[in-house]
Amino acid sequence: MSLPDGVQRREFQGESALATRGDPVYGEPVVDGWRRWDPHRSKLGATLEAGLETGLSGGDGVLYLGAASGTTVSHVADFAGPTYAVEFAPRPTRDLLGVAEDRGNLFPLLKDARRPETYAHVVESGLDAIVQDVATRGQADVALSNREFLHDDGRFVGAIKARSEDVTEAPEDVFERVLDRLRDGYEVLDTARLEPYHDDHLAVVATPR
Ligand SMILES: C[S@@+](CC[C@H](N)C(=O)[O-])C[C@H]1O[C@@H](n2cnc3c(N)ncnc32)[C@H](O)[C@@H]1O
Repeated sequence: MSLPDGVQRREFQGESALATRGDPVYGEPVVDGWRRWDPHRSKLGATLEAGLETGLSGGDGVLYLGAASGTTVSHVADFAGPTYAVEFAPRPTRDLLGVAEDRGNLFPLLKDARRPETYAHVVESGLDAIVQDVATRGQADVALSNREFLHDDGRFVGAIKARSEDVTEAPEDVFERVLDRLRDGYEVLDTARLEPYHDDHLAVVATPR
């Protein structure tokens, strides 16, 4: 498994952990300028820990859907190029604006990821990657409607939360249904469950088809 350029395993008090270089955001330890990336607080961090080949590279243009207060997208902006961060809840977006102040390549957008037409004039097309963690019903539909921003060989790297789709259905059945829908617009390259970091979440790496 290859980590994107700009993401490394570093030692923190004798423990090896993922890290990126940048200003700290959520009280994480920093050693020699490297910030520890906590997979318990980040689906993408857990996805890298799970060993999935995400296809993400240093300098990538990224559309991040479901940025919340910026925990994960801050790490993404540390290694990526232009990073557009979509979040529709005003409160976390306020924190996200603070995170973006220190990062000239991070562009927060207070927008609904189900309505890409409302930010299509701001976000460049031909991006290298969509990273998605929206934890809402219709996660495959969000991925499909944002596919237009990716170039043909781009990557979708998402975390699907079973309980956001249906609290009663078995997670395996939810994942099958979401993947089936995702295949309307993507080829699924790999998947992995995110336990022990996140219960009932499936990481998905896909490319437009
Ligand atoms: C699990 S949290 C994201 C955590 C974040 N990705 C991180 O690791 O730092 C999910 C976020 O998705 C946002 N969200 C859900 N539906 C959305 C939508 N349609 N458009 C934009 N944001 C959405 C929620 O407001 C919430 O902040």
